[in-house]
Amino acid sequence: MSPLDFTTQELDKLFDLANDIERNPKKYAHACDDKILATCFYEPSTRTRLSFESAMIRLGGRVIGFSDAACSSAAKGESVSDTIRVISCYADICAMRHPKEGAPMVAAEKSLIPVINAGDGGHQHPTQTLTDLLTIRSLKGRLGDFTVGLCGDLKFGRTVHSLIHALVRYENVRFLFISPEELRVPDYITDMLKSRNIPYNEVIRLEDVIAELDLLYMTRVQKERFFNEEDYIRLKDFYILDAAKLALAGDDLLVLHPLPRVNEISVEVDSDPRAAYFKQAQYGVYVRMALILTLLGLA
Ligand code: CP
Repeated sequence: MSPLDFTTQELDKLFDLANDIERNPKKYAHACDDKILATCFYEPSTRTRLSFESAMIRLGGRVIGFSDAACSSAAKGESVSDTIRVISCYADICAMRHPKEGAPMVAAEKSLIPVINAGDGGHQHPTQTLTDLLTIRSLKGRLGDFTVGLCGDLKFGRTVHSLIHALVRYENVRFLFISPEELRVPDYITDMLKSRNIPYNEVIRLEDVIAELDLLYMTRVQKERFFNEEDYIRLKDFYILDAAKLALAGDDLLVLHPLPRVNEISVEVDSDPRAAYFKQAQYGVYVRMALILTLLGLA
């Protein structure tokens, strides 16, 4: 499952459902009474796994799964394909995170139940993108007609790659990529933007462009994807958004972050009305509830 599997009209329907769930949670409290979600997480997670589990429980369903490959038969050498064939006998829907790019797609091909990609290596994180889009639509009132700055690790940050692919489908979106040279957005993404005539610019200093932004999407430097500890240490604190930098931004800016954060946003920013990253985590539950209902044909 990828956000690109949905048309923008289907996404609007999904987000309308998520907003209705937010307003009327009781209406959906038994929608999945007889359903089981499997969460198969081969990589660490707090938000994605627990928001999926919270989503299914809030829909009246139940949850099984593992949060560590070492606790599953992957540790004995079982393939993802075999695991999902078996999980298909135990659950109605599965959310899978895997360090290997494409693994949830391989699983989906062998599966008898819907498999949701909950993050695959440095590739994509589709349900984070759904969360991001719902947050933007709910808090800005629109998807499109804005300048979005993506800041930090644009090379390894899978949430960034997914979000760019989703936003290019909307009108009048301009991208500012803010990163050190070593963590620039991959060429395949800038090539795609060029081929579609979508405006973008690459800069190093956040201070130089923050005043132009409607949305600022901060990201963590992805320690787990670095080959070299020295490079990580050199780059990890390259960007720190603090109150002084935020003072340069407009009043309508929304600061987003998929979380977890390390040092890239100072805690003093949390109380600024423009900081939306904890609301974003809450929207993650509503959109995953809407997604489960949709993929199970219950919407
Ligand atoms: N945003 C996100 O994917 O967080 P987790 O790694 O905690 O799931």
